[in-house]
Amino acid sequence: MKAEFKRMALDKIKGALLCVFVMQNEGAPIKGYDKEFKAHNFEGKLEQVVHLCTTGKERFDHLLVVGLGEKKDFRLDNFRKAAGVATRYASILKQKEFTIYVPEGNETAQAITEGALLASYKFTHYKTEEKDKFQIEKVYLMSEKDLSRGVGLGTIYAGAQNYARDLDEHPANIATPTAIAKEAKVLAKEKNLHITIYEKKALQKMKMKAILAVARGSEEPPILVKLEYNKGRNYPLYCIVGKGITFDSGGISLKPSKGMHEMKYDKTGAINVLGVMKAVAELKLPIRLIGLMPLTENLPSGNAQKPGDIIKAYNGKTIEVLNTDAEGRLILADALSFAAEQKPKAIIDMATLTGAILVCLGRHAAGLFSNDDKLANILEEAGDETHERVWRLPVWKEYSEMMKSDFADIKNISEQGEAGSITAAAFLQEFIGDTKWVHLDIAGVGNINEKHAYLSKGATGIGVRLVTKALVKLSEKK
Ligand code: BES
Ligand code: ZN
Ligand code: ZN
Repeated sequence: MKAEFKRMALDKIKGALLCVFVMQNEGAPIKGYDKEFKAHNFEGKLEQVVHLCTTGKERFDHLLVVGLGEKKDFRLDNFRKAAGVATRYASILKQKEFTIYVPEGNETAQAITEGALLASYKFTHYKTEEKDKFQIEKVYLMSEKDLSRGVGLGTIYAGAQNYARDLDEHPANIATPTAIAKEAKVLAKEKNLHITIYEKKALQKMKMKAILAVARGSEEPPILVKLEYNKGRNYPLYCIVGKGITFDSGGISLKPSKGMHEMKYDKTGAINVLGVMKAVAELKLPIRLIGLMPLTENLPSGNAQKPGDIIKAYNGKTIEVLNTDAEGRLILADALSFAAEQKPKAIIDMATLTGAILVCLGRHAAGLFSNDDKLANILEEAGDETHERVWRLPVWKEYSEMMKSDFADIKNISEQGEAGSITAAAFLQEFIGDTKWVHLDIAGVGNINEKHAYLSKGATGIGVRLVTKALVKLSEKK
């Protein structure tokens, strides 16, 4: 579905389906339907919908009214939600196009555009029957004022998120490290990014032994992708890094089979990097940005790494691998050391790193870990604005103590099994030196199974709008 802004007064709008939003217990912007609302018990509660047939009475055939909830609880995300509900409804009504009336300014227009575009997204690549492939072609956002800027921004943000969702959703037999690197090349060409692909031989030469250790059990060769936006330009440099395990079986420390298929989503962090690169390029931000994606499978085989193995990461630190299922932090060890070597102003990493973050925060916030309060605050603000919320947890030195190994510098798990998400972050911190850094544990939010107003079952692409917004904020600070 595409979004298009059109300048139009509410009483001039015509077409097949018009959607308007209404605050709880406030009148709808289109008058004369109070009786119908009463008959449908419509009060304007958040996500509540009433659909009225208006053929012959109005310039449009269907009127869809969606509730925004109570004024006192109002947040911008309510517009995303209401637009999501409207889009789903228009899809059920098999509309090829429909119109949403935008009541306020550019921020609202952006949120409504995002909600509509995110809700319209459907993964149909592997469906072969036409009936499964219905897509709305266009949503018109209309207002008396010129809100084309908001609609344009919403299109960029949601477009990047849907792009990430689409890549995340492909299964591990298709989305191999090689296939994802190929996709990165396509994006680089389209967005004029500089790209370097480090294949297995290059990784060996560079002594990226942590990535190589995880890849040992797999037939698929590992790859490190480096994307650069505004390379060589005189702007402040930032680095984003994403965990790209295209399938996590656990390796020799094998996972239970129930739910293991969901480990195709263990590449979400790396795919988010692609999504953010796309958005940043489209927004033409005045920064330099390096995106790093370490990509490999984590499988058991006769050649796989074993519990107890000791390896040396790119920065020279030795790691005792006590559990081969704590592999994300291993590939990030190499990628983060490499990122720190580029001397950026800050590093932001995204990783489906621990099951423990799901126990801690559920599916409603990503875990945030940082060595810098200002940077952490920027991400918290960006989280509230995008509604891709984060919650900060500490990385005190006591947690780093828990990761000291008897036989190497550090170990990849703390056998105590306590504070699993924090000890994982403490492990990562060993590889960033004194660079300002934020780690986002997105294991809980990267994919969902439950109902949501504008996201569907499967990959959410959460992290793309969040980190893009954080980079926008950083670019505005001098
Ligand atoms: N990819 C998993 C984390 C994960 C779990 C993501 C559930 C999404 C849903 C990660 O590689 C992993 O297996 N972590 C282990 C760490 C443990 C061995 C210390 C975990 O969380 O169990
Ligand atoms: Zn794992
Ligand atoms: Zn993993």
